[in-house]
Amino acid sequence: MSKSLQDCHNFHDLRELARLRLPSPIFHYIDGAADDEVTYRRNTASFESCDLVPNVLTGVEEIDMSVNVMGFNLEMPIFCSPTALQRLFHHDGERAVALAAEKFGTLFGVSSLGTVSLEEIGQLISTPKMFQFYFHKDRGLNSSMLQMAKDAHFDILTLTVDTITGGNRERDLRTGFTSPPRLTPASLMQFVLKPSWALNYFFREKFELSQLRDHIQEGSNIAISVGDYFSSMLDQSMDWDDVAELKDNWYGRFCLKGIMSPKDARRAVELGADAIMVSNHGGRQLDGSRSPFDQLGEIMQEVGGDIEVILDGGIQRGSHVLKAMAMGASACSGGRMYLYALGGAGRAGVEKALGNLRSEIERDMKLMGVKSFKELSPDMLRYR
Ligand code: LAC
Repeated sequence: MSKSLQDCHNFHDLRELARLRLPSPIFHYIDGAADDEVTYRRNTASFESCDLVPNVLTGVEEIDMSVNVMGFNLEMPIFCSPTALQRLFHHDGERAVALAAEKFGTLFGVSSLGTVSLEEIGQLISTPKMFQFYFHKDRGLNSSMLQMAKDAHFDILTLTVDTITGGNRERDLRTGFTSPPRLTPASLMQFVLKPSWALNYFFREKFELSQLRDHIQEGSNIAISVGDYFSSMLDQSMDWDDVAELKDNWYGRFCLKGIMSPKDARRAVELGADAIMVSNHGGRQLDGSRSPFDQLGEIMQEVGGDIEVILDGGIQRGSHVLKAMAMGASACSGGRMYLYALGGAGRAGVEKALGNLRSEIERDMKLMGVKSFKELSPDMLRYR
């Protein structure tokens, strides 16, 4: 069965494109989550337990969907969350996502487990850039990553706080997914089934984890699962004092990703963070944890107005973005919303994904009778 990018009208079509183009262990690494994947499903389903109540006859010929995130103007209210291993999904990896994000005037995040160097990304685009930081046991590696982000003039440092140990990603256990892919008879069969992916992977630039390359073997040549990587390499003693120290060593904006409780949101305010990303890591860590959208009301009640709140996760539609913005989010972000597109069609795919979302957001703003997000408020939402 073939499917072209032109036929991809929404998130589901792009997911299908990725499923057709990627070797199955790689598709399932993106598509999968922890344990029974209840939280993963809930992340999107939670938007469906809430309905929008439009106002009409408001004159919506011209709308403005720009937002300000941590001092940066974004031309659309959703950005590309930092995600790992992007050159496994498409040989252009982060380059493709960075250029697509720049084209749409939105923010792009590079992961500590990224596959293109911060230096290169720093030179490639002029729009705001976020570096996502994993706090490793190896303090030398931590300082070196921080320095690389400074040298490359990244604007925002985002510390992920929900990966203190690896989530139980059973699809990865079943498929044997590792990074880089381990060559086994089963994985070879997958590469034979997806020859265009395999040719690109094996005959183009060698795979690497650019931010880790000079520090640890896992950066280059040991096939290890992401869950095992978190459990063995990250510092499980990390606490608020470490976060304060990290923030002190950074010159730019500081954000915490993976905050879910109002108590932690308050601590982030006390720490002086510029923003929090309300996120459960796409359901890939603690299954049974609450969805970001379900939790947004409580968080806004606790810290609304004191810190920027970004809703990360579960977004598949423009209407999901509007619901989060109506609850008071400063912006939204997502991983899978552009990763399937990257896997399916590289930069053109990511542009299609962002373009689809932008059209949906524009249409939905008009249908809601709002010209800017300032006009959205929680009283335009109803829960079932
Ligand atoms: C994951 C990490 C690497 O969820 O963000 O797989």
